[in-house]
Amino acid sequence: MKALDKIREIVNEFFFDIREAQEIVSHVLRINKIHLYTENPEITPEQADTIKSLVERRLKREPIQYIIGECSFYNIKIKVGTGVLIPRPETEILVEKVIEKKELIANTGNKIVDLCTGSGCIALAIGKNIPEFQIYGIDLSEKAIKYATENKAFNNIKNVMFLVGDLFNPFKEKIFACITANPPYVKKNEISYLQPEVKNYEPLEALNGGEDGLYFYRKIIQSSGKYLLDEGLIFLEIGKGQFMEVMKIAYAENFSLIDVVKDVAGIERVMILKK
Ligand SMILES: C[S@@+](CC[C@H](N)C(=O)[O-])C[C@H]1O[C@@H](n2cnc3c(N)ncnc32)[C@H](O)[C@@H]1O
Repeated sequence: MKALDKIREIVNEFFFDIREAQEIVSHVLRINKIHLYTENPEITPEQADTIKSLVERRLKREPIQYIIGECSFYNIKIKVGTGVLIPRPETEILVEKVIEKKELIANTGNKIVDLCTGSGCIALAIGKNIPEFQIYGIDLSEKAIKYATENKAFNNIKNVMFLVGDLFNPFKEKIFACITANPPYVKKNEISYLQPEVKNYEPLEALNGGEDGLYFYRKIIQSSGKYLLDEGLIFLEIGKGQFMEVMKIAYAENFSLIDVVKDVAGIERVMILKK
């Protein structure tokens, strides 16, 4: 069978999203989407078996990114799999804002810490686009740090270092001009309502923001004073409806709001704080 007939078959038989069917077939044939359409190669029986097993995984609601093993984030490729959160498009807003404010950050210093780094997507995208900065990515999960380290090599980015640790605990000094974080922010009792792709496959420790979803914002903002240089900035990704609550935490610690950025759905998604 030809590749394009296979895609049609998957779409019609399993009501598959056409982009996901294309991704699976391109992945198995090791061919990009353009060549898939211009060459429309014949599929071998072995390849057909592999495609079938990947389609079955997707039908069980495993995320397509885990099945393919990678995804795009900003202008880099990130490898992902069980045990590490899949980077989300809205997190690119945070990277965009750090790049936009690079001169302001550079006035204070050149070291950034990306807390809760997961796959390393934020740290690596900043590192690639601002080579003069030194970035540290921290995560409590050894598995996440393994992926992050692999992603650093995969993208050949030199100015980023990954460490296993509990938030700031690998550090002793006030050395950072900037803190970035997309911490776990789902309320504990709302995790069971997330879609199966998320709640059944993505790591719980990447989602659980405690009873009110704000546990990590409190921890990060309240302990930042020991690590963030004067005039330093904090860039936080936040969940729907969390803006006012995080602002209260920030004001109580004498931070002011520099900017808040909405995502395409109009949700306040990234906030920038200054001490
Ligand atoms: C929402 S995910 C974000 C991952 C990545 N930054 C991204 O944007 O895709 C949160 C991450 O926080 C990590 N984490 C949870 N508790 C932590 C802690 N106490 N210290 C450091 N990282 C932690 C989880 O392992 C997970 O990788």
